[in-house]
Amino acid sequence: MSEADHLYIITGASRGLGAALTNALLVPGNRLVCVARSRNLELERVATMSGVPVAWHLQDLSQPASAAGWLSSVLESQDQPPASATLILNAGVVEPIGPVSRLQESTLLPHLLTNLATPMIMTGAFLERTEKFDCPRKVLAISSGAARHPIEGWSAYCAGKAGLDMFIRSVNAEYAGTPAPRTVRAVALAPGVVDTGMQDTIRNADFAQVQRFRDLKANQQLASAEETAGRILAYLHRPDFGSTELDDLRNY
Ligand SMILES: NC(=O)c1ccc[n+]([C@@H]2O[C@H](COP(=O)([O-])OP(=O)(O)OC[C@H]3O[C@@H](n4cnc5c(N)ncnc54)[C@H](OP(=O)(O)O)[C@@H]3O)[C@@H](O)[C@H]2O)c1
Repeated sequence: MSEADHLYIITGASRGLGAALTNALLVPGNRLVCVARSRNLELERVATMSGVPVAWHLQDLSQPASAAGWLSSVLESQDQPPASATLILNAGVVEPIGPVSRLQESTLLPHLLTNLATPMIMTGAFLERTEKFDCPRKVLAISSGAARHPIEGWSAYCAGKAGLDMFIRSVNAEYAGTPAPRTVRAVALAPGVVDTGMQDTIRNADFAQVQRFRDLKANQQLASAEETAGRILAYLHRPDFGSTELDDLRNY
């Protein structure tokens, strides 16, 4: 890695918003580490053509300990320090959807591990292992309006994302005083309603407000993953990134 490289770690890079973010980050001067459980051969092909160094890793992020171990070894193996390091916590699941009275440990726990515990543990590993790089660090968690407003039937998702929001605030509280160049800025950003596989899952689920999501799709009111990714990256590069730790793309 040359000293000018900016290092981005993107979770959930195989599909949806994560794939669109990865695609948009394929610009000279960047170096990417992408993780998901499955491959996206077309995106891998585009990445190869771009000439941007991309390392693809298959990891199940419902397992925090192995995710943190993996991330630590990836960061340990960087032989040149990057100019900046950014962790994009994008991987997430929406199911189980259903009433609180039907919550089951067998689906609730993997959900919370994926959406909350792994992002927390990975952030810890990221902050520890990037210390030696002497560069500015950012953590961008993809949050949701559901973290801030309850939706009937989405208690797992609302609670997990609300936990992620508070975790991001805790990171800022703990690292606010970190002197340059190793500054840490963290934001939990809600992206709006985006046309991805997750919205497909939502439209096919059974909960009180499902018609609202079906209407958004029918009326072509969903944002595309590509447009949303572009707006997220513009947000990430704002000089005041981190000044609003819980934010929503729909505010802009
Ligand atoms: N779409 C929306 O309207 C919307 C709105 C608000 C917030 N968000 C948030 O935006 C983020 C991206 O969502 P999306 O809409 O792009 O969803 P998506 O199309 O369902 O993609 C989810 C991504 O997360 C990965 N992932 C899920 N579980 C994983 C696991 N156990 N281990 C590793 N990777 C895993 C998936 O990869 P594999 O299946 O290959 O592992 C996939 O790449 C999520 O955090 C979501 O909560 C989305």
